[in-house]
Amino acid sequence: MLRESDVLSMLMRRKPKHALARELYVDPGVFQADMDNLWYREWLFTIPSCELPKAGDYVVHEIGVYSVVLVRGNDGVIRAFHNTCRHRGSVLCKTAKGRGPRLVCPYHQWTYDLDGKLLWARDMGPDFDPKTHGLKPVHCRDAGGMVYICLADQAPDFEGLAAAAAAYMGPHDLANSKIAFESTIIEQGNWKLVWENNRECYHCAGNHPSLCRTFPEDPRAFGGLGEGELAPEVLQHIERCEKVGAPSAYKISAAGDWRFMRMPLLGTAESYTMDGKVAVSKPNSSIPFKDAGSLLKFKYPGTWNHFLSDHVTLFRVTPISPTQTQVRTTWLVHKDAQEGVDYQIPRLTEVWVATNDEDREVVENNQRGIMSPAYEPGPYSEIHEGGVIQFVDWYADTMIRAMTGARAIAAE
Ligand code: FES
Ligand SMILES: [Fe+2]
Repeated sequence: MLRESDVLSMLMRRKPKHALARELYVDPGVFQADMDNLWYREWLFTIPSCELPKAGDYVVHEIGVYSVVLVRGNDGVIRAFHNTCRHRGSVLCKTAKGRGPRLVCPYHQWTYDLDGKLLWARDMGPDFDPKTHGLKPVHCRDAGGMVYICLADQAPDFEGLAAAAAAYMGPHDLANSKIAFESTIIEQGNWKLVWENNRECYHCAGNHPSLCRTFPEDPRAFGGLGEGELAPEVLQHIERCEKVGAPSAYKISAAGDWRFMRMPLLGTAESYTMDGKVAVSKPNSSIPFKDAGSLLKFKYPGTWNHFLSDHVTLFRVTPISPTQTQVRTTWLVHKDAQEGVDYQIPRLTEVWVATNDEDREVVENNQRGIMSPAYEPGPYSEIHEGGVIQFVDWYADTMIRAMTGARAIAAE
């Protein structure tokens, strides 16, 4: 198991534009360093806000050693708290989701308000101060209808993403959407391999027969080349969408941790369906044409998304172990769209259910091949894997910054 100093020197010695060294995909010490320096520090997508429609609705999100409760308060605000009671530490919410007027600990029934205040604790004596025993909050922000948390004491800046999300996701009205379907799979692969696979379509033609009906393989369609270079027809598409008030231009944050851009689908395709036509007749976007393509978004390290004219898919990545990653996909449709009338679940979900399974398989094959002592990091294609190079650069730079920053503080 590598120590953090070993991880740092491996990252500093890595060969640019090449896959990472084997240890970075398999070693438990690297996994711990990833958790400590990225996953416990960065803003992480958890759920769409529409997953908690009413006051008292909650979900529990597990990430590494943390368990976090997300709950909608009586004031309509979604807050996040550590799922550990301030008495003797029992988990507060035992089930993955639920609803209640208050949060009651299952052990000795200490009772908390939905905003985290301790309301009731039996027989704790006259010196006990409930005010200092409220639930511990976790940073929590809603950006365009997607709820993010940050486990760090000091959260990184969120305003840039919040502003971009409000603009780009505005026409997609996530607040008035609902989850039509969700799927959760475990991929037997390191979380970085899941991302590397996501950030290129070099593998699409050989692996994704149903997605390739509508998803363009050309990296100039989605800014997969260096600097986000786009094809002329893509620029025309962006202009067409922006004219109707749907921000679409390629925009990436200075740190490279998030990006938005709206690309056209192939030919006359409207949505990720087998026939290319929309899957939902009551759309959750206000864009006045169906062939609006897909607004592509990612926010490292936890989510990538597709916003179509008729529905939205949100993917959430959660590392489980050095070689296991959970991927949850939610399909969002307009809250008033009726299943069986306005959409059919199989038609809505079949392309990405198949694609997720195909991606799982290629990621697992990649992981198994990397386990071989004969593995040697090979070069990425600069034509097709510009997005992978961007991801790996972000990963290494962010890790190095976090690890060296932490050292400077420790040395003070
Ligand atoms: S541990 Fe929660 S009430 Fe005792
Ligand atoms: Fe794929």
